[in-house]
Amino acid sequence: NTGKLWGGRFEGGPSPELDALSRSTHFDWRLGLYDIAGSHAHAKALGAAGLLTADEEAALHAGLDALAARFTDGSLRPDPSDEDVHGALERLLIEEVGPEVGGKLRAGRSRNDQIATLFRCYLLDHSVTVARLVLDLVDALAAQADAHLTSVDGRPAIMPGRTHLQHAQPVLLSHHLLAHAWALLRDVERLADWRRRVAGDSPYGSGALAGQSLGLDPELVARELGFTGSTANSIDGTASRDFVAEFAFVAAQTGIDISRIAEEVILWATKEFGFVTLHDSWSTGSSIMPQKKNPDISELARGKAGRLVGNLAGLLTTLKALPLAYNRDLQEDKEPVFDSVDTLEVLLPAFTGQVATLVFDTDRMGELAPQGFSLATDIAEWLVKQGVAFRIAHELAGACVRRCEELGIELDGLTDEQFADISPYLTPEVRSVLTAEGSVASRDGRGGTSPVRVTEQLAELRARVAEA
Ligand code: ARG
Repeated sequence: NTGKLWGGRFEGGPSPELDALSRSTHFDWRLGLYDIAGSHAHAKALGAAGLLTADEEAALHAGLDALAARFTDGSLRPDPSDEDVHGALERLLIEEVGPEVGGKLRAGRSRNDQIATLFRCYLLDHSVTVARLVLDLVDALAAQADAHLTSVDGRPAIMPGRTHLQHAQPVLLSHHLLAHAWALLRDVERLADWRRRVAGDSPYGSGALAGQSLGLDPELVARELGFTGSTANSIDGTASRDFVAEFAFVAAQTGIDISRIAEEVILWATKEFGFVTLHDSWSTGSSIMPQKKNPDISELARGKAGRLVGNLAGLLTTLKALPLAYNRDLQEDKEPVFDSVDTLEVLLPAFTGQVATLVFDTDRMGELAPQGFSLATDIAEWLVKQGVAFRIAHELAGACVRRCEELGIELDGLTDEQFADISPYLTPEVRSVLTAEGSVASRDGRGGTSPVRVTEQLAELRARVAEA
């Protein structure tokens, strides 16, 4: 009894070189419990079709339970002679229940419909784990946003908002943090969409490609495995891997969304920015420079985003132009996505810990917020409210900036006379918008950065999180 599931038509055994190339147990063994669950369901379908006696079916279930227990405690291991997890578990089942009944289980199924089903089951489970971890990060961002609505003597923290990495307009720190939270929440929602689609599509019963002739009920197997339905086309069921590619995309997009936070944390933690201090437990030191405190979690996050994108690109390249139906190329679908799952499951808890413990220097952020002429738009919009055409208002605000650059001052340093020199429209009342507080408070349309809107926004985000 070996883990080979074929051989009848071959005179000699495969060469060791072929075995070495073909073997997948070193990575597909992690699907073992899903394979066993599939076998339980398949045994029921065989029993329901009258192809197993009640005793035989009971013996198979008992044997599979024994394997599951040994799999869980780690004592069940594949043999070097096993080609893949399916062959290994059939060999082990036969050792458990004997060849007579153990040899009956394979009727009406193929490794092609098995693997297509098990991989879905594995990803369905891990999509829930990953989604929960992403939601933890969303929660950490929301908690920071919440705290910074009142962190400056009871008032919201303000920071320089940037475009092109240049000072653009003041924004609430909370508004900025929530921007990252929304992107991550969409990743969670993408996983939920994906799950709905995949859960309706159990391929068990598709056989190798053409379906099975033994009167088995694929809907029964689907239900047993927690699917909401079985696949309508056995060729599609065994040959499609868009469910894998789509999962890999969401994983890559999640990695990219995390990397954008990571890059900012790295910048913010520099001496030049000085916006954040990292918690000792969530940062690292240097082996030679005693003073160093490095944002390694963010750097690893930035690096791992590349790895997640690579996994997606590699997988899509494998799938491109593959003819129907199953081809062995498809065995290459698993390692990249297992790696994406492992990567996110180890990255997210660390990244969330880092975000939750960031300490912001709100004084410094607030001091820099109105600098770099970031209130020029406020001058222009104030002029519009006085009836000046925006084209002219833009010109006049630009002239204020030019004057300030000549004088080496910020906009609020211009005297009443200097404003009046630039234009009679620029009366002393313009000063009312020349503070970061006034600027953010004025942006009070839906989605804007005013404290009222950001408070509403936080509630809206939390309601969506509760639904996710
Ligand atoms: N190990 C294969 C895979 O991961 C499944 C087995 C199908 N093999 C075959 N020769 N039809 O895709």
